Amino acid sequence: MGDSTKEKQLAAQEAVKLVEDGMTLGLGTGSTAYFAIEEIGQKVRNGFSLKAVPTSARTEEQARGLGIELVSIDDVDSIDLTIDGTDEFDDDLNLIKGGGGALLKEKMVARITDRQVIIADSTKHVERLGAFKIPVEVLPFTVNYVKSMIDESGGIGHIRMNGDDFYLTDEKNYIVDADYGLMEDPYEISDFLNDIEGVVCNGLFLDLAEIVIIGKDDSVVTYEREADDEEPDEEEGTEERLFA
Ligand code: A5P
Repeated sequence: MGDSTKEKQLAAQEAVKLVEDGMTLGLGTGSTAYFAIEEIGQKVRNGFSLKAVPTSARTEEQARGLGIELVSIDDVDSIDLTIDGTDEFDDDLNLIKGGGGALLKEKMVARITDRQVIIADSTKHVERLGAFKIPVEVLPFTVNYVKSMIDESGGIGHIRMNGDDFYLTDEKNYIVDADYGLMEDPYEISDFLNDIEGVVCNGLFLDLAEIVIIGKDDSVVTYEREADDEEPDEEEGTEERLFA
């Protein structure tokens, strides 16, 4: 077993300690989330009553095999806790995700999650995001257009392939991996990508992770979002609406 595999397992075990009986969970995708889902399956076998929203077909299959009760993302208003992996994270706990192609459901799940916990091996911690290309999920008929918009903006768009075919996401969309190098302002790039017609979702997960747990050698290190960075709590009955 390689070091990074052990680090992934350690991070997953630590994160699953946060799972409580009765919770609705978000289940991430990838080789690190895999270990967390196995541990969650063990909790269910030990009598925990849990519901879970899977973020990909792969995760759904794994969770179903473990007897975890599954609910669809559109059937829940909120999720108590999500455990997911990442391709990179920085000191602000901003992430690049989607290396495994599951970014759309991962981002939707993260948006409605109260506590987003990211698990990773120690290689995923970076000073500045961008060595890993940003996965951008696009409607199939817009793939060349999105690539050209990325190229014209100063990035390099790489259309993701699967052999001679386009790589297909679970939702039958394509992916353009956008290379902007190490980013000074990922917020600006995320806004730019989201504004391109045809873009369904981009892999920059900004201000979404609350906790990142990594395995480092034989132990774990936990990074928590600074309290100052958190959105202020809404008072009951004072929900802010954009257009009212
Ligand atoms: C899936 O599309 C991704 O967002 C994964 O969460 C990410 O690629 C991390 O995967 P690993 O845990 O396999 O490194």
